[in-house]
Amino acid sequence: MSARGQAAERGGNMRAAPALRGAAHAPPPPAGGDVEAITEPGRYQDLSLFKVPAGFRGRPGWYVQLWWVVQALLFRPSPQIAYGWRRMLLRCFGAQVGVGAIIRPTVRVTYPWKVTIGDHAWIGDDVTLYSLGPIDIGAHSVVSQKSYICAGDHDYQTVDFAIRGRPVRIGTQVWVASDVFIAPGVTIADGVVVGARSTVIRSLQKGFVYVGNPARAVKPRDANG
Ligand SMILES: CC(C)(COP(=O)(O)OP(=O)(O)OC[C@H]1O[C@@H](n2cnc3c(N)ncnc32)[C@H](O)[C@@H]1OP(=O)(O)O)[C@@H](O)C(=O)NCCC(=O)NCCS
Repeated sequence: MSARGQAAERGGNMRAAPALRGAAHAPPPPAGGDVEAITEPGRYQDLSLFKVPAGFRGRPGWYVQLWWVVQALLFRPSPQIAYGWRRMLLRCFGAQVGVGAIIRPTVRVTYPWKVTIGDHAWIGDDVTLYSLGPIDIGAHSVVSQKSYICAGDHDYQTVDFAIRGRPVRIGTQVWVASDVFIAPGVTIADGVVVGARSTVIRSLQKGFVYVGNPARAVKPRDANG
């Protein structure tokens, strides 16, 4: 799906959005009332104005489409044990992938040329690397099943809902457990553990276990050796 399509898909419940602006000063909307009746539609975002800026994707449009076809036809149906094959495909499309990296066939990569995966890192089933901006995953780090690494968003203060790439950096020897959301611009330092179903919206410091939404440190992680 194109970035434009993804933006539209992520648009969510636009009908309710106008009521949120200035919520700290505005009276609450009438309970059970018509939220739209007290707002002017179209002042917050107009998706007819949305454009992906020139050069944003880092490759021409046809090349992006080619990757998505390759991902659908050659990457995704590959046998689980074909780790070398998937490393090769990603490298062909500009990813930097270290030796021994384990990348499952159900991983989704938006723009491989913006992705770096270190030696012996593991990327689990149904992980999404939404690489609108750079995503770096360090050596010996694990991103477990269903986690969503989100390296981009929209500037919701602009009427054209401007798209932005913002880097996500995951250090070495990190474990991001299952179903974790990592927000744009976040850096996770070496040795961190992020518990299952956590939401990481701020950068995390080296050597701690973080859990929850938003993720908070609960204890240090011991280094052995
Ligand atoms: C983060 C994790 C590794 C911590 O395990 P642990 O060291 O045994 O930690 P504890 O069970 O002692 O938990 C420490 C505290 O964090 C809380 N906590 C642990 N994991 C949590 C999570 N995912 N979300 C919210 N809170 C969590 C515990 O309730 C506990 O809080 P308390 O002290 O107030 O009782 C583990 O909870 C986890 O999330 N594992 C991921 C499993 C997984 O994803 N498996 C599939 C991929 S292989």
